[in-house]
Amino acid sequence: MRLDDLLFSQGFGTRRVCAGLIEQGRVALGDQPCRDPSTWLDVSDPGLRFRVEGVDWPYHARAYLMLHKPAGTECSHRPGAWPSVYALLPPPLRQRPATGRTPGVQAVGRLDQDTTGLLLLSDDGAFIHRMNAPRRQVPKVYEVGLRHPLDEAQVGRLLAGVVLADDPRPVHAAACEPLGERALRLTLTQGKYHQVKRMLAAVGNRVETLHRSRIGGLALPPDLVPGQWRWLEPSDLALLAG
Ligand code: URA
Repeated sequence: MRLDDLLFSQGFGTRRVCAGLIEQGRVALGDQPCRDPSTWLDVSDPGLRFRVEGVDWPYHARAYLMLHKPAGTECSHRPGAWPSVYALLPPPLRQRPATGRTPGVQAVGRLDQDTTGLLLLSDDGAFIHRMNAPRRQVPKVYEVGLRHPLDEAQVGRLLAGVVLADDPRPVHAAACEPLGERALRLTLTQGKYHQVKRMLAAVGNRVETLHRSRIGGLALPPDLVPGQWRWLEPSDLALLAG
């Protein structure tokens, strides 16, 4: 792939902007600036890297990311009252061009404004669809802080299934592990709107804090602090596929 096309595919602006960056000597391959936009690069090389204005970037044909979502952020490109989670990504990741029918990098499902924890993002529409497909039932694990003490009857009802207002079919937790008087770990395999909050309300309790710690086999790494993101490694993607 030509260097200007490569920069365009990675979100560094229009082809004209990318050619300008290169001609001005602001792009380096290895330690050397490269001023020729037509320079050919082998994008099948898994170690392909480039530098733009002193920042080193790995080439990724598709973006697969994890973000530790902080409280007080919205999973929307057009947020209302709160800043967008996309503002936590560097500009090239926000500006990656559309691929197929996916308009750039999107969150894989949404978390509420006040929910913290593991959020996946990608510009691979098939991946986003696979992760959200009800048929695949990818388990999502939440740590829930409660307003009222949790009792056995509530745990029993969450596991047996509760009916929410928008669907007569009951939804149930795949696992429900009390962590203390007012805390539990809940595993869900569906992804309905406000599902944890509505399930806890249906059994007479109320969610005070909500944190997603795991999706499939992939746990939020303890060293990824709120607001921080990183690329998913092939080993992370394998944990999600399993
Ligand atoms: N369930 C909720 O109620 N909120 C979330 O953010 C995620 C799951």
